[in-house]
Amino acid sequence: MKRIIINTPDSLSAILIGARWEAVTKLLPQNGVAVLTDNNLYKLYGERFPGYPVIIIKPGEESKQLSMIEKLAGELMKKGIDRTGFILAIGGGVVCDVAGFLASVYLRGIKCGYVSTSLLSQVDASTGGKTGVNLGMIKNVIGTFSQPEFVICDTTMLRTLPEDEYMSGLAELIKTGLIGDKTIIDTLENNYPAIISRDRDLLADLVYRSVRFKAGVVAKDEKESGLRRILNFGHTFGHAVELHQGVKHGFAVAAGMELATLFSYSKSFIKKEECERIIGLLKKYNLTKDFKMSAGKVRKLILHDKKKAGDEIHFVFIAGIGKAKVNKLPVDEIVDFYRHCKSTNM
Ligand SMILES: NC(=O)c1ccc[n+]([C@@H]2O[C@H](COP(=O)([O-])OP(=O)(O)OC[C@H]3O[C@@H](n4cnc5c(N)ncnc54)[C@H](O)[C@@H]3O)[C@@H](O)[C@H]2O)c1
Repeated sequence: MKRIIINTPDSLSAILIGARWEAVTKLLPQNGVAVLTDNNLYKLYGERFPGYPVIIIKPGEESKQLSMIEKLAGELMKKGIDRTGFILAIGGGVVCDVAGFLASVYLRGIKCGYVSTSLLSQVDASTGGKTGVNLGMIKNVIGTFSQPEFVICDTTMLRTLPEDEYMSGLAELIKTGLIGDKTIIDTLENNYPAIISRDRDLLADLVYRSVRFKAGVVAKDEKESGLRRILNFGHTFGHAVELHQGVKHGFAVAAGMELATLFSYSKSFIKKEECERIIGLLKKYNLTKDFKMSAGKVRKLILHDKKKAGDEIHFVFIAGIGKAKVNKLPVDEIVDFYRHCKSTNM
């Protein structure tokens, strides 16, 4: 088991990778705990949950709403959870985002911890302390920065993850490799069969490297005023694809990474071989899909992006495999590049 400590000015949070999730009992207070999970996780693992009251939500984005937070706060009240209470999330990014947000606002803040069960949440969503819910179609508009006490990433749980969810998580892993740890890319290139068969130890090592990188970034810039922006690599166009096509987050980010890689190459930030290597890796894992969207639609959706300042956006490029670079660009420059890619079939 490996441990990474996230040390921010206000809190300490421990990410435990390769730990058995059932050992979570040792980390919980004796009383005042409520477990939050979704139907899928409860069906698969509910029998082995620690003996505390359980609240079950529907799986998926539809549960990431403010009305859900209100409902859940009512449930916590009914269960007698007071200021000394604790919320344990057992689930993927949705359950963790909802639990984290609920814990940060319920009675002005109670403690929480996560058993992070999807690849996407292990490599990305449950590290960093961002919590939140959506506003209609727009993702994560209402939220807080609030660190859980601990996150357990048990890679044996990934064996029950549906195929498309697993592949979507791999895209996030590729993202971390591209912006911060070249060895993740080497491992994904050289161990295809073990990755596809979800080898527990190899995955634990990759999750560890991904979390270690993200933790380092978050420790330097918890509230996304600078460095943390690099974590949005592939997200500008990715969010547009996600909103328009309704595809899973990782597939949308993969499309965004493909465009951002070509854009980085067109600006001579990376060499041709590097560009080909990245696109080759996305293809190897079948993550390059052609999303048919007009340039006008892309522009409209990017302008909706909550991270934009005026008509400009912080766009994340790569400056080599394992190295990111952020430039502020007019949205129209990104849209023009997208139009160019479409017209030349790049
Ligand atoms: N807070 C952050 O920093 C951050 C970062 C990235 C993404 N996110 C958020 O994370 C969410 C996506 O996370 P996700 O992909 O985990 O989605 P999710 O929580 O909806 O999980 C995906 C599906 O897999 C199922 N599942 C999860 N673990 C399983 C397991 N071990 N076995 C079987 N089924 C399992 C879930 O029930 C669900 O149906 C989005 O809402 C996104 O906005 C947050």
